[in-house]
Amino acid sequence: MQYMYPLLPRVVAGATSRFNMHLFRAPQTISTRTRPQLGALAPLVRAISFCSLYQQHPACCLATTKTMEADSSAGVAAEVESLRAQIAQLEATLKSKEKELDTVYPYSRSYSKTSVVTILGSEDGGKKLIGQTLRVGGWVKTGREAGAGAFCFLEVNDGSLFESLQVMVPKEVAEEVGGLKALTATGTSVLVEGRLEATPEGTKQPVELKATKIFHVGTCDAATYPIAKKKTSYEFLREKMHLRPRANTLGAVARIRNALAFATHKFFQENGFLYVHTPIITASDCEGAGEMFQVTTLLSKMKEYAGATSVSTEQLETLKAELAAQGEAVKTAKAAAAANKEDKELTAASKAAVDKLLKLKEDFAKAEESSRIVGGIKRLPDGTPDYKEDFFSKPAFLTVSGQLQGEFYASALSNIYTFGPTFRAEYSFTARHLAEFWMIEPEMAFCDLTDDMQCAEDYVRYCCKHLLENCQADLEFINKMVDNTAIARLQQVASTPFKRVSYTEAIDILKDVVARGVKKFEYNVEWGIDLQTEHERYLTEEIFKQPVIVYNYPKDIKAFYMRLNEDGKTVAAMDVLVPKVGELIGGSQREDRLDVLEQRIRDGGMDIAAYEGYLDLRRYGTVPHSGFGLGFERLILFATGLDNIREVIPFPRWPGNASY
Ligand code: 4AD
Ligand code: MG
Repeated sequence: MQYMYPLLPRVVAGATSRFNMHLFRAPQTISTRTRPQLGALAPLVRAISFCSLYQQHPACCLATTKTMEADSSAGVAAEVESLRAQIAQLEATLKSKEKELDTVYPYSRSYSKTSVVTILGSEDGGKKLIGQTLRVGGWVKTGREAGAGAFCFLEVNDGSLFESLQVMVPKEVAEEVGGLKALTATGTSVLVEGRLEATPEGTKQPVELKATKIFHVGTCDAATYPIAKKKTSYEFLREKMHLRPRANTLGAVARIRNALAFATHKFFQENGFLYVHTPIITASDCEGAGEMFQVTTLLSKMKEYAGATSVSTEQLETLKAELAAQGEAVKTAKAAAAANKEDKELTAASKAAVDKLLKLKEDFAKAEESSRIVGGIKRLPDGTPDYKEDFFSKPAFLTVSGQLQGEFYASALSNIYTFGPTFRAEYSFTARHLAEFWMIEPEMAFCDLTDDMQCAEDYVRYCCKHLLENCQADLEFINKMVDNTAIARLQQVASTPFKRVSYTEAIDILKDVVARGVKKFEYNVEWGIDLQTEHERYLTEEIFKQPVIVYNYPKDIKAFYMRLNEDGKTVAAMDVLVPKVGELIGGSQREDRLDVLEQRIRDGGMDIAAYEGYLDLRRYGTVPHSGFGLGFERLILFATGLDNIREVIPFPRWPGNASY
């Protein structure tokens, strides 16, 4: 059936390739804006192919329509893939040509500075630029005098690339800025102009800069520079948070982090997702776990109240009694005045009594207000803070997840993602937890758990591929110095589909290894437990030896918003577990049935009023939808094999630590 008509594939290929030619003849149409929409072109490509064919061979077309649809959609997918590859190739060539045209870094024109990546990052390692006069600025990684003090070599790094550029400075050039010794200390900053020259055969880099003039030197005292030593521990570097980006590993991590952030946006934009900024300050606890940092100005108001005289309960009672007595006095005075309207003195006495009462009332109100200030915070009668006094007139927190608000947008705009900081006040010191971390959270309308898992898998694999293609030097360094399985792990993940097992199957596997005495766990394994990191890592590292998605978890250990399965015991949840890390992603299909969701909120003992907006989505045009959250730092841990999450975020926050 498939090849019933032998010319079919050729005609289709002809039509689609004419379509492609059209695309490539008008390269200006393939801008960054149009590229993400290539996915949307698939039906168009299919239609054009079919029309061309139908005109020529109508009968055959009808007979083979069904098979062709399946065939052509696979073909179109391959075409789109190939178009993407061609665009990427064109982009790379364009970039390198642009660099050849103009070597000056766009925003260092005043200093005429070029970047190291422009030189060493080009395909020929900078050979094309030999003979040109260039200026390079950065920090000296290592410096040494040579030629019996006739010149020095500096390894200058500007962060644009893992590698540093070798700069040779003759003594006479250095003399103008304090001599060779002023330049060679690690950490010294320099802006050097020179001629790019070829290095002798067999040298690590094909080019070096021979300095002719030095425009800037920022000296660095080697005796006190904290990270001058070759190898410093990560713990020590954490104490020097402001200087640690200069350490090789931290620099490599920063570039890898940047590449992963870029890949994230690229992946979602290419697949038609809309980037939504969900709030950082929120009034709702998405995870219902009560691990939120409170945002309040009540504490700053304590200063304002510091001078206020505090009123005791006894004083308040005395004032209250005085007020009551004066009330009586007013009644008596008013009655006397009314009985003898001609008596001016009685009228005056009555008015005085009323005035005194009003004054007492005012004093009492003030005293009562003051009595509510306890410990510098105004409180309600039950002693809890009066949030009317707070900035938002109600309790507010830093978000633990943008999911709820993400769902609002997905319920109007279909597929969206957020990528922002999230905060958890977990008192956790583990190597996988931070108090402030970044999360990527896609949310998709008309998407079930299976599609959700596929999206998670495609996204992670896309990121791995992107890193392998764009961060070679950094990955090689990481592979050599940090984890010699890092590159192989990325390659494996980029090329292999993830395994998928249900929670129940995962528990059976774990129970089996325990029963056979193959493995002992600290935490007991039985159906209903929340998988611990040791279980998760055993599954992904020892059993499957690759990423695995565990789905359909017991409802009691998962959040209220996850869709209840038919069995009434499990929810349509999924966690992606990866080697080195354990849980990388947590997600689910969302509960889209109003009554079930209300019940889940009530069962969780949560305040249903706080979720009215969320419930409204189920009242007004509810749709099946799903999403997940990927811990960005955990993705970097996975990619680099570093042991501690504190090394993969520029300014880590954990209990007791928030430098800068
Ligand atoms: O599994 P979690 O708690 O899921 C959510 O927050 C959902 N609202 C996401 C969603 O469906 N939109 O967190 C998601 C991921 C985890 O899998 C983990 O990788 C990471 O966030 N994560 C942390 N990373 C660093 N430090 C912490 N304290 C983390 N807590 C969670
Ligand atoms: Mg989770």
